Amino acid sequence: MPMYAHIVGVGSYLPERILSNTDLERMVDTNDEWIVSRTGIQERHLAADDEATSDLAALAGERALVSSGISKADVDLIIVATSTPDMLFPSTACLAQKKMGLTCPAYDINAACTGFVYALQAAVASIESGRTRTVLVIGADALTRYVDFTDRGTCVLFGDGAGAVVLQAGAEPGVRGIVLGADGSGADMLKVPAGGSAAPATVERIEAHDHYLKMSGNEVFKFAVRVVPRVTTEALEASGMSIEELDWLVPHQANQRIIDAAAERLGMPSERVFSNIARTGNTSAATIPLALDELYTSGRLAVGNTMALVAFGAGLTWGAAVITWTLPHANKED
Ligand code: COA
Repeated sequence: MPMYAHIVGVGSYLPERILSNTDLERMVDTNDEWIVSRTGIQERHLAADDEATSDLAALAGERALVSSGISKADVDLIIVATSTPDMLFPSTACLAQKKMGLTCPAYDINAACTGFVYALQAAVASIESGRTRTVLVIGADALTRYVDFTDRGTCVLFGDGAGAVVLQAGAEPGVRGIVLGADGSGADMLKVPAGGSAAPATVERIEAHDHYLKMSGNEVFKFAVRVVPRVTTEALEASGMSIEELDWLVPHQANQRIIDAAAERLGMPSERVFSNIARTGNTSAATIPLALDELYTSGRLAVGNTMALVAFGAGLTWGAAVITWTLPHANKED
């Protein structure tokens, strides 16, 4: 009998502190009308000063485990997708493992905003091969730690957060096709130039703001609008499914205009396209598991619903997964 991976638990965490567009108006030359009309974002969450990515990851991971009802001793592997680790090493997965009181192997994947889909692929491959049975996949980022709050072209876009799923082996599909892509020739479009081995931190580099995120917004926008429909279609083909069979399109939340343009190209009606960007901004590797938790908790997902998850990000990277939802609804707000 073929072995599939399917989602048996989901959870998320958004830090309490909120940064509104009005707050940003006091920091840079911008305004609420520009931000909302160009991006769809109204507010974003900011990690507290004493919260690191592993804290966000651990809280989301704990919540996903509770929702699965699976005991901590039964988790075989933790994968954390992040591009904003607590520190270069140890991995954020090891730090979150300790905070959650787990003992299994743990490692990070960095595919920037596509990280969750990459981590899903690694988890699914591990489960389908029979090497693991239960894997906790977390997408967690605190990108506001790397955002230059003097650069209005980027600082309005990002927020912090984490989301997680528990995947387990089962006889029914679950996670169907996954397609990933990367093109390192686009590396300069979105990067944090300093602080790594190519340009270690120096006073000069810090003064030049080189340890902050740099982005060619227009180029990334055009890339995203092209790649999202393409990779979604490829993942549907790999799953033997058509766009009409999808109950939900769950796109990476980077810009509402990218979401709308991609959905239109795919012919996906807007009421079946998930969006929470107005309240979260771009939380990088966390956007898709945050979306899954919000869809699930709000009762909009039923067993048997099929959805496409699709993301893009620095690297350049991109990826899409087609998933049939198998977690019975439990209203966590009751
Ligand atoms: N407030 C007010 N004005 C702003 C602004 C802000 N926060 N940011 C930029 N502007 C200005 C620019 O300076 C420019 O002014 P100019 O015409 O006088 O030079 C004008 O608005 C238009 O800028 P432009 O960059 O062309 O705007 P845009 O419509 O492309 O929107 C982004 C900019 C960043 C919102 C958009 O390019 C984008 O979302 N790109 C993709 C980003 C992304 O997805 N990143 C994450 C990938 S995972």
